[in-house]
Amino acid sequence: MTPEAASQQTEALCRLAPVIPVLTVKDAAKAAKLAEALVKGGLPVLEVTLRTPAALDAIREMAQVEGGRVGAGSILTPEHVAQVLEAGATFGVSPGSTPKLLDAAETAGLPMLPGAATASEAMALLERGYRVQKFFPAEQSGGAAAIKSIGAPVPQILFCPTGGVTPANAPTYLSLANIACVGGSWVAPEALIEAGDWAAIEELARTASQLAG
Ligand code: 3PG
Repeated sequence: MTPEAASQQTEALCRLAPVIPVLTVKDAAKAAKLAEALVKGGLPVLEVTLRTPAALDAIREMAQVEGGRVGAGSILTPEHVAQVLEAGATFGVSPGSTPKLLDAAETAGLPMLPGAATASEAMALLERGYRVQKFFPAEQSGGAAAIKSIGAPVPQILFCPTGGVTPANAPTYLSLANIACVGGSWVAPEALIEAGDWAAIEELARTASQLAG
């Protein structure tokens, strides 16, 4: 898969909803219910981070949920690329990017939303063909003001900022022309997942799905 084709796909995903939930799942048995609640609440694009031993099984479970588009986050290595594809992930997100990782994703056909946090990193990804990028860690790297500034000389990159994005600051991000959507963990707090409070998560998702710039 070419980086250009990957970017077309990740842009289409970003256009489905203003927020991509960033999910850390400890118990794969809860994954399907979690995905159902988020999709029902209006957030169909889900990023499961590879930060728990249950992550790959969670992707497997969520991939069966109707209406969901399940991807994997925190992808760091070519091995991760192979594992998440095998589990059924349809896209990948990485906090940064390395040539080795991007080579693997392109060869395997995993559309990547690769991470950048500076103008040089964003330019290097653009040079390779990635027009759609994650901006990470967003708040810590200057937030919406930084993304706006990068957009002045390089308006052709579309960003999905994650890291410190909240319901309070999301509208500022979403108001920028070079932001396609945002990512965040606030729609699926650990305590609500643990408690199996799917109604509360659905409600958080519904509110997030209505965010706009
Ligand atoms: C990520 O894991 O991509 C982000 O760190 C999510 O950050 P948040 O927990 O601040 O939303």
